[in-house]
Amino acid sequence: MTRLRSIAFDPVDLDPLATVAGHVAVFVGADGKLGRAARRLDRLTRGALTRATTAESWAKKPEGEGVTLAWPAGMAAEALHLIRLERRPGLTEARRAGASLARMAGAKPLVVLAENLARVPQVALGLALRGYAFTDHKSERGEPLGAASFQCAKPEEVAAAAAPVLAVAEGVTFTRDLVNEPANVLTTTEFATRLEALRDLGVEVEVLDEPQMRDLGMNALLAVGEGSASPSKLVVMRWRGAEDAPLALVGKGVVFDTGGISLKPGAGMEDMTMDMGGAGVVAGVMKALALRKASAHVVGLVGLVENMPSGTAMRPGDVVRSMKGDTIEILNTDAQGRLVLCDVLWYAQEVIKPAAMVDLATLTGACIVALGYENAAVYSNEDTFCGQFLRTAQTEGEGAWRMPLAQAYDDMLKSPIADMKNIGGRPGGSITAAQFLKRFVKDDVPWIHLDIAGVASLKTDSLLAPKGATGWGVLTLDRLVRARFETRPEAETDAEG
Ligand code: BES
Ligand code: MN
Repeated sequence: MTRLRSIAFDPVDLDPLATVAGHVAVFVGADGKLGRAARRLDRLTRGALTRATTAESWAKKPEGEGVTLAWPAGMAAEALHLIRLERRPGLTEARRAGASLARMAGAKPLVVLAENLARVPQVALGLALRGYAFTDHKSERGEPLGAASFQCAKPEEVAAAAAPVLAVAEGVTFTRDLVNEPANVLTTTEFATRLEALRDLGVEVEVLDEPQMRDLGMNALLAVGEGSASPSKLVVMRWRGAEDAPLALVGKGVVFDTGGISLKPGAGMEDMTMDMGGAGVVAGVMKALALRKASAHVVGLVGLVENMPSGTAMRPGDVVRSMKGDTIEILNTDAQGRLVLCDVLWYAQEVIKPAAMVDLATLTGACIVALGYENAAVYSNEDTFCGQFLRTAQTEGEGAWRMPLAQAYDDMLKSPIADMKNIGGRPGGSITAAQFLKRFVKDDVPWIHLDIAGVASLKTDSLLAPKGATGWGVLTLDRLVRARFETRPEAETDAEG
């Protein structure tokens, strides 16, 4: 389990600045006007800050980025970081500043002179998220992450505002750890065990096993796991922070996707450890909600299966009956995510009776063909709900782009021998997958489907994550819950933003 850097909010104390060890950081706006702490540092370093912030390159620095003065004269610190940030920065800029600090300071202990900067919690969030590293399987882990201390004018106020923000960072970290974990470690059983640990935070967790799912008629989900030695499971996590009808979050949890009998090519198959990314996001959101004691009723449901080829695996041409009762002709065993989701979606509606439903899945390679690695594909049967989701994702800086649903796409799923087939052909592959799911959503349930195949895990570093799992969606869904489902929505404070 990855532990976040410890972050504290302390009163401003400029007197020991000359002797502080580790790294020190301070913020300066584009105009180069130095605040109290920066002026003190400027004196200590005989004008180094003035020289750095009047250099031509300073004004060209994007907000949230900066320069490092190594071994600054007049100070005991190893490095002094100057970050370009206005006193009232935007949310993205504040996070970018934190992310820059994470990259610049590495594992070193860090004193951040924030004084009366606004949105300090968002700077802390950027620092926490960009400082993530998945080292559980490294024998040599290097030095442990040093603590960070933000020196603020009103430390208690900032600490109170930062607590829920850092709870969400813990949620994102949980998601990333799950998604980064190899499939021999994160089996369906191990996944369920890690989710059961959320009970310690007050989440009600129920684990349904194969016989229970068979009794419920979840034959589509069960078919996917039939070739695997790991038993399929449905895990239901309930955070009852209010008594209203819940929001249901449904996640695809394929711990490894070989493709099954419709076997994938060997090259790159190792990437399919992240095919549980949807379930990982659901788990991370549940953890965030529990940690910050959200006043909302949210139920997370994840279908955990492994798609393996074997003598007991499902075959192309098989016909299965879903929990809803509709029959499905399986023409490609690699289109397995939708088989898992259709039964979990139906279970959610029948048993949980949600007010609204969001599902997340690394569902199709076609989604990546359409949108690359910048945006998740968004599908919905309800424009208002969908619009709110898109605006929230925009605020959080998580790429999301709405895609169409229409009868003509649904028609591509017609089967000669069953109620539908599980593939629609190559054209519009992400859309036909969404149409498949829509057949298992009741018309009066507001629903959003997120195809996160392109955004769940990246081969390159991004603003808030090193390469690997991103945790895409945790920030947006947490904010969506706050805005739409909480009974006592927190006022957006200046400190939080
Ligand atoms: N897990 C894949 C989708 C995927 C691809 C996720 C690349 C992340 C990166 C999914 O189960 C799958 O195999 N989809 C098939 C569907 C096809 C057979 C209709 C695909 O996209 O090729
Ligand atoms: Mn597949």
